[in-house]
Amino acid sequence: MDRILIVDFGSQVTQLIARRVRESGVYCEIVPFNSVEAAFGEMNPKAVILSGGPNSVADIDTPRAPQNILDSGLPILGICYGQQTLCAQLGGSVEQSDEREFGRAMLNVTSASPLFDGVNGSDEGQIQVWMSHGDRVNNLPDGFSVIGTSENAPYAAIADEARKIYGVQFHPEVVHTPDGAKMLENFTHKIAGCKGDWSMAAFRDKAIADIRAQVGAGRVICGLSGGVDSSVVAVLLHEAIGEQLTCVYVDTGMMRAGESEQVVGLFRDHFNIKLVHKDAADLFLGKLDGVSDPEQKRKIIGGTFIDVFEEEAKAVGGADFLAQGTLYPDVIESVSFTGGPSVTIKSHHNVGGLPERMDMKLVEPVRELFKDEVRALGQELGLPEAFVGRHPFPGPGLAIRIPGDITDEKLEILRKADTVYLDEIREFGLYDEIWQAFAVLLPVRTVGVMGDSRTYEYVCALRAVTSTDGMTADYYPFSHEFLSRVSTRIINEVRGINRVVYDITSKPPGTIEWE
Ligand code: XMP
Repeated sequence: MDRILIVDFGSQVTQLIARRVRESGVYCEIVPFNSVEAAFGEMNPKAVILSGGPNSVADIDTPRAPQNILDSGLPILGICYGQQTLCAQLGGSVEQSDEREFGRAMLNVTSASPLFDGVNGSDEGQIQVWMSHGDRVNNLPDGFSVIGTSENAPYAAIADEARKIYGVQFHPEVVHTPDGAKMLENFTHKIAGCKGDWSMAAFRDKAIADIRAQVGAGRVICGLSGGVDSSVVAVLLHEAIGEQLTCVYVDTGMMRAGESEQVVGLFRDHFNIKLVHKDAADLFLGKLDGVSDPEQKRKIIGGTFIDVFEEEAKAVGGADFLAQGTLYPDVIESVSFTGGPSVTIKSHHNVGGLPERMDMKLVEPVRELFKDEVRALGQELGLPEAFVGRHPFPGPGLAIRIPGDITDEKLEILRKADTVYLDEIREFGLYDEIWQAFAVLLPVRTVGVMGDSRTYEYVCALRAVTSTDGMTADYYPFSHEFLSRVSTRIINEVRGINRVVYDITSKPPGTIEWE
């Protein structure tokens, strides 16, 4: 399999380089600049891409590309900071310029290059690109020539065609460079000679072979939540090792309406996977009784989940491996220049403590994939669309959508409101446009009037956001028609709610969930 190595110098958009390269059918991995020297040999890539980054090459002690990469003779593409360090290291120079460029710029192609094959640009031979730089190259290393210029970057694109080393000041990986994906494909296919045969079908076959090699005759246990990641992992493992796999679905009592039935129906009945369905609602709700602090709720749920999971794993005779749906963004060690630990905003519940406690090894078959690639793999494995395209659902479930203490009554009210809301989202054809949508039940009662009577009931807040990774999010701009319809239906159909509000907070400053 052909591989591309992406050296991360800390750009906010390094992951997008990986996305574009994989979309061109070439497998790639991102490695931070400070650990790439060793990783380079093991990976044996066909070419290297140097990412952008926040530093200035002119400052001392800023990151550099390792010498073994520069000496390797492989094709190299430097992007933004990657271009600048490449130039500085190969004998050219970089200046700090007053004429900074941020945003859209026009690139004039000044010389034919395989990097620009099939890139047409406008009638004037200009190509729209996205720039974000203060520094710029001002002296080329030997062997290089200019292949493109922009108003404020006379060396916007440079090449040493003989050594197949390229540098671009702009960002081909972002959508604002409409031809950028084509340029990256030119680099990986035409310049580096990659075949472009990496696909989900190929990944699936390789993943199955890898799982068999890792697990041998061992037994694997997998926590199934009904979310996309664990569902895909379960089906993939089942294809690889069949009866050696046992899945455990823990019903915390804080699931949405019909959720447990759907999960059990699909995995046990349809896929014929060995599945333990543990109804632990009373245990969880008992421990949460009277608890209203969000962090305490999360900790109780996380701890109880591990206890229940461990107990069920013992009950089925233990296992040698624990399967997890770890994704690539969790694995990439991000390059941080700020120093110091980041602040915990919310403690996310996962089964992180389990492998040590239970003396199990980990199987993480999708740790090289991005979320939408996991979805594509799910389709490849025949998972129904309704599971593959599902909105994310947090481990602590409805508990973090009921601010304050949790009761059976509140859970029941919230389930009903959430069902109405999502029915309407589907009805209006909006489900796939939205990253995540859900109802929240506020611990506030307000006065209303229904018929001729006074009501004094709960407030329901609706949340819907668009996002690419859940890290930042915008609220979804529903039409008034949609909001009125949902509000009317919830108030008419869900006893216990007499007021509906829509949350128009983005993240940041808000978070997606309310707790
Ligand atoms: P926040 O609320 O932090 O959520 O903006 C970002 C994304 O993460 C999900 N989320 C969780 N997922 N366990 C999970 O598995 C958790 O404890 C948890 N908390 C939040 C949230 O639903 C959103 O998609």
